[in-house]
Amino acid sequence: MFHLRVAVASALVCLGMIGSARPAEQKAGTPSGLSREQSLPSRYPYVIEDALRHCKPSKGFWVDLGAGKGQVAIPLIEATGNAVVMLDPNAEALSEGLQAAREKGLEDRLSAVVGVAEKMPFPDGSVDLVISRGSIFFWENPAEGLREVARVLRPGGKAYIGGGAGSGFPKWAADELIKGRQARAHGEDAEKWQRFVELRRPEQMQKWAETAGMKDFTVMGKGAVSAEDPRVGQGVWLLYEKKER
Ligand SMILES: C[S@@+](CC[C@H](N)C(=O)[O-])C[C@H]1O[C@@H](n2cnc3c(N)ncnc32)[C@H](O)[C@@H]1O
Repeated sequence: MFHLRVAVASALVCLGMIGSARPAEQKAGTPSGLSREQSLPSRYPYVIEDALRHCKPSKGFWVDLGAGKGQVAIPLIEATGNAVVMLDPNAEALSEGLQAAREKGLEDRLSAVVGVAEKMPFPDGSVDLVISRGSIFFWENPAEGLREVARVLRPGGKAYIGGGAGSGFPKWAADELIKGRQARAHGEDAEKWQRFVELRRPEQMQKWAETAGMKDFTVMGKGAVSAEDPRVGQGVWLLYEKKER
């Protein structure tokens, strides 16, 4: 059944669904200076470590929601051997992810579907793990996206959704990241940076989850300019488990 689902997802890409969704809209809201953060160590290994520790996911149908180029999906496959389906409105980014997987010999484990969190093309109760890094802040309707996450997860399935550097991210690098963001909140692109920080407040994540009708969730992390929560380090994350009802 699982392989069938993955095959269906792959087929959607092959059948030209790629390119049919609207492109990412994040560019307009992205504050300048974000690229300077690229010089810091990669956050993905630490995020994946945290996700696996917090979710302890069952093997099965895993979705990287807002996957972009598969920056989370590919190392997640490498770390666990489990297949991953990427979902993102940006067909070009997904294609790059599929190509990167091919170059690593992981093409049998990575599939892609063009779509949005708010309307996922998966049946009710079919997904074992939803992982989503750095994406919810760009969704048109985050609460609706979370409602969809709850719908597609099977009872016992988990979701780990948010953004941040991971609890194992070196302290010097987290300090530098935060210092840069605090400074930029008063710089030339101050308004966008303030919005960037606002969207990543734990209270905001809590509100989206409550609006989505989620019950069994925990919000971890203190946001974009704090690394004080040892469970996740810098950032903010929603951990959700769908309970049997
Ligand atoms: C900053 S990138 C993060 C990419 C990747 N997850 C990572 O951690 O590097 C945000 C991604 O969210 C995607 N996105 C934007 N709106 C979305 C939506 N409504 N549903 C799902 N993904 C969306 C964008 O296309 C983009 O690839």
